[in-house]
Amino acid sequence: MMQSNTNPITLALDVGGSGVKGRCFRQPDEPVTERVRIKTPRPAKPEAVIATIIKLLEKQRPFDRVSIGFPGVVIEGVTQNAPNLDGQWKGIDLRHRIEQVAKAPVRVVNDADMHGYGAIEGRGVEMMITLGTGMGAALFSDGRLLPNLELGHHPFEKGFTYEERLGQAALDKVGKETWNHRAQRAFALLQRVFNYRVLYVGGGNVRKLTGKQPDTIVLVPNAIAFSGGVKLWDAR
Ligand code: BGC
Repeated sequence: MMQSNTNPITLALDVGGSGVKGRCFRQPDEPVTERVRIKTPRPAKPEAVIATIIKLLEKQRPFDRVSIGFPGVVIEGVTQNAPNLDGQWKGIDLRHRIEQVAKAPVRVVNDADMHGYGAIEGRGVEMMITLGTGMGAALFSDGRLLPNLELGHHPFEKGFTYEERLGQAALDKVGKETWNHRAQRAFALLQRVFNYRVLYVGGGNVRKLTGKQPDTIVLVPNAIAFSGGVKLWDAR
């Protein structure tokens, strides 16, 4: 239900490889509930994850609309894949499924795209990278998104993709120092290729980055995903 004479309340949900997180906001920087996190069920098959999303949603009522950041390609609310969840996510109409329960409008976008909406200023080329279970990427030009940029699966070095070199499994395997060197090389390569004005780096593992970053790199907290979930309703 729409609240009188104030902004609508948005429930922002971030579906990750290890946890599903959600919180309600009246403005991007004005939460109205406590953040709730539920462990991502394993195996992360559609029905199990959808049940988790619904459980979280019920804990966060009331709200007027719902934003979901999903860790895979999403086209018009329908998921195409989810490399770090499970192989059965092709063709799931997540928007429709959640709308039926939420009884409110729902938007589903790629998780890195949602993070990006929370981070960008809307000027020039801005890029978002998320370092978590996988590696997400989003690209914006003057605030306009190029959706579903699956850069994580592009070859990076030594025949491995960015995600294979920088995802959680790689960090666990090679340790923080080597992983940090890889991250620096990745940021530099992305600068050469995309000529970003700013590269925002977020996700659960951003806190594992050490040393001083160049001025063009801005480390953002994970909560930026929630702000993005509110802002995406005004997206161009
Ligand atoms: C997926 C992306 C997602 C990223 C972070 C990758 O494996 O392909 O769509 O944004 O993980 O969750």
